[in-house]
Amino acid sequence: MTAQDFIPKPYTKKLDSGSVTWSSPSNIALVKYWGKRKDQIPENPSISFTLDYCKTITTLYFSGKEDRNEYSFEVYLDGDKKDDFKPKIETFFKRVEPYLPFLRDYHFKIETSNSFPHSSGIASSASGMSALALCLMSVEKQFFTSSAVDKSHFSDDYFNQKASFLARLGSGSACRSLEGDLVVWGKHDKIAGSSDLFGVKYPYEVHQSFRNYQDTILLVDKGEKQVSSTVGHNLMHGHPFAKKRFLQAHEHMEKLMTVFKTGDLDGFISIVESEALTLHAMMMTSMPYFILMRPNTLEIINKIWIYRKKTNSKVCFTLDAGANVHVLYPENEKHQVLQFIQRELIVHCQHGHYICDQIGFGANQIED
Ligand code: DP6
Repeated sequence: MTAQDFIPKPYTKKLDSGSVTWSSPSNIALVKYWGKRKDQIPENPSISFTLDYCKTITTLYFSGKEDRNEYSFEVYLDGDKKDDFKPKIETFFKRVEPYLPFLRDYHFKIETSNSFPHSSGIASSASGMSALALCLMSVEKQFFTSSAVDKSHFSDDYFNQKASFLARLGSGSACRSLEGDLVVWGKHDKIAGSSDLFGVKYPYEVHQSFRNYQDTILLVDKGEKQVSSTVGHNLMHGHPFAKKRFLQAHEHMEKLMTVFKTGDLDGFISIVESEALTLHAMMMTSMPYFILMRPNTLEIINKIWIYRKKTNSKVCFTLDAGANVHVLYPENEKHQVLQFIQRELIVHCQHGHYICDQIGFGANQIED
């Protein structure tokens, strides 16, 4: 597949107005995407667990307009108009317009809500951009008569690939949110079908130890990030350790393949924790350098290590580009680890807040 393959054939149907709704989850990377080239092409492959509870629900209303000079849209979060979201969506529209030529023909009303609080420090870009991309794909699908949908390129696979391709152009990690339970994004020699252009479901066997894997998100700092992911990605250009880091991500992907097959949870822990710390090490060693972890992030990590040593538990942590800690553990330890979290870790969370989530299976269209 190339980007050209996502330029649609001429539409076979006209439509005045309508609406579509999608629910799309967030995801947590096990091997991290950090560093990108032009057009949102990742410097290395990444893999993530799709989440279940943390998600965005978006309804896209569209109505035909005459003037094709500019995009016309309004955005609402939980019923409140959000003009500060508009620049990001405008950039997204510009990037995807070659692949969605109808964008200037309609006025759009985007109504969105998240299952997690907006001020939780959890990035809503993965769930938000994937939900919007899916809505736009559902609109595009309606521009084809059913016979054209049936016999043309508009198969379910094409729909998913193009939606993921579009989501990527909104926010890289968003392309890993459409399916579950494990999604790969970025070309890896050993993973058939993997692509820099879109996320694909991990295509090989996964040991039952990973079934219903738990992710409890400890909200250490709910504020706005001091450094956006986009700035952080760009700091990987000319970064002294970039080359080695991208190579390491390829190696970690390959090792994880064995881990998923055999259910080697100790192997899982060492790769996942190393990835989290490497991500933050890249931030600390870029120029300018920055630190997104907080003292409480480190307190939590230390307590997880002590608990693991004491109990032989398979609990581990990962981090995204912020201070919050994702505590990952197998379902059969759910009871004990939750007790440990409540007893020892929530004192390090802002206002004691945390979110219980687990591995999920991707986005769903919600019918009216
Ligand atoms: C640390 O996908 O938010 O969460 O493509 O600029 O929107 P943009 O970046 P984004 O970066 C996510 C980085 C990460 C790691 C990951 O999810 O793989």
